[in-house]
Amino acid sequence: MQGPVLIFDSGVGGLSVAQSLRQYYPEAALCYTCDNAWLPYGLREDAVLSERIVAVCRAAVEACQPSVLVVACNTASTLALENLRQQLAIPVVGTVPAIKPAAALSQTRHIGLLATKATVGRPYTQRLIDSFASDCIITRVAADALVVEAEAYLAGITPDTHRMQAALAPLWQAVTPSPFQPLSAQLLSADRQALDTVVLGCTHFPLLKPWLVQLAPRPLHWIDSGDAIARRVAQVVDELHSEHPDGRCFTTAPAANLTAGLARYGFKAPQLLSVS
Ligand code: DGL
Repeated sequence: MQGPVLIFDSGVGGLSVAQSLRQYYPEAALCYTCDNAWLPYGLREDAVLSERIVAVCRAAVEACQPSVLVVACNTASTLALENLRQQLAIPVVGTVPAIKPAAALSQTRHIGLLATKATVGRPYTQRLIDSFASDCIITRVAADALVVEAEAYLAGITPDTHRMQAALAPLWQAVTPSPFQPLSAQLLSADRQALDTVVLGCTHFPLLKPWLVQLAPRPLHWIDSGDAIARRVAQVVDELHSEHPDGRCFTTAPAANLTAGLARYGFKAPQLLSVS
């Protein structure tokens, strides 16, 4: 029997990917797992995090018996994708910043990368930029505070726009370069155009998109990886219809405060996953 699609993230960010999967494949059974005991991943040390990701994904695969694992987390994918593919016997689809589609869209050749501190600094991210956007300026903004806002939002708390603005300030500077820059900086950036496209390189951020759009000083292209991941899943799994129950959910720490938010995305009250 064909297993469900297992979606994994550190927290609720993977729900933005679940939403794309549900739109593309309404007949597929989805299973969600988040490592909320270790959230946020973006501020953790690489070596221990890599081991942890493999351990949690192993336990989740054991519990869900999926046909495919979707690592719906840029921070985890840019670190542990290769390792996961070696250790697991099922196909693994990763989520990495959508630099390629952003480069195809940007007219000004200036792109913002909004992601966790870990993702903006990873060699994997640099390789994506070198391969697909070598003619673009990339303004990298580590916005880990937005992960906290997205988690709070799914727990029923309205995002704090002051905290969001503080995290987004470096991005807005590139959207509207200051006329008060020192002359040397102005000369340096004379050929630089304002940023017109933003890559949401953390799966938590699409959950905040209505606020991001509203807070931006002017209209921008916002790009996330949800649809590309959904299309990729169909390429690695033969059959997406599953007789497995849909909407099972596992967390690594109690998460009763997320039950209502999870239900909005079609997931049941979370069960605790034991990770060895
Ligand atoms: N949702 C994760 C991502 O896409 C990051 C959240 C975290 O820092 O744990 O990178």
